Amino acid sequence: MKGKWAEAHFKNSNPVVLELACGKGEYSVGLAKMFPAKNFIGVDLKGNRIWRGARTGMDEGIPNLAFLRIQIEDIVDYFGENEIDEIWITFPDPQPQESREKKRLTYPGFLNKYKTFLKPGGRINLKTDNDGLYQYTVETVKELNLVFHKNTDQLYQSEFADQVLAIKTHYERIYLKHDKNINYIQFSFD
Ligand SMILES: C[S@@+](CC[C@H](N)C(=O)[O-])C[C@H]1O[C@@H](n2cnc3c(N)ncnc32)[C@H](O)[C@@H]1O
Repeated sequence: MKGKWAEAHFKNSNPVVLELACGKGEYSVGLAKMFPAKNFIGVDLKGNRIWRGARTGMDEGIPNLAFLRIQIEDIVDYFGENEIDEIWITFPDPQPQESREKKRLTYPGFLNKYKTFLKPGGRINLKTDNDGLYQYTVETVKELNLVFHKNTDQLYQSEFADQVLAIKTHYERIYLKHDKNINYIQFSFD
């Protein structure tokens, strides 16, 4: 499918948006229903989690939704240059140990991979409960001279809160029950 997701899989020429670490896919499902003129692909390595989102997509007949079960480390093998309009990273594993920095989904090595298929100006959104991962991402965006669009450590008290950011994943619901603040950052390469 590399380079031809819209035409070959979705049978249209609409923009394609990715959700990385999608788990059960609540964000992809929510966005696909909200934006029928875009295509959404949830990516995760755990088949049993993806199954939940895929089941919902089939039961509800959501044509602009797909899931891809891969290691995100291999993502450049699945998407071609300029193929992706936007990326969402929803509550990824924070990998707090220094020794696991390279596993964080906003580590520069991952960002370089995303750059190979993101359209010019395409935005990357991160929602996380983890303050350490949020700070790390803010610092990375600064160090790499990337473009900040939005960032807040109190999403629901901020000016950015809207119906798109109000979509809640399985993990977010758990964190909110424990009164955890939700961090959000949106940035792009140019
Ligand atoms: C904390 S869960 C969040 C799931 C979902 N976004 C949510 O908020 O409910 C993190 C997810 O990332 C996936 N994941 C972690 N590392 C990954 C990798 N290298 N490649 C693909 N998926 C990965 C896990 O399988 C898991 O489903």
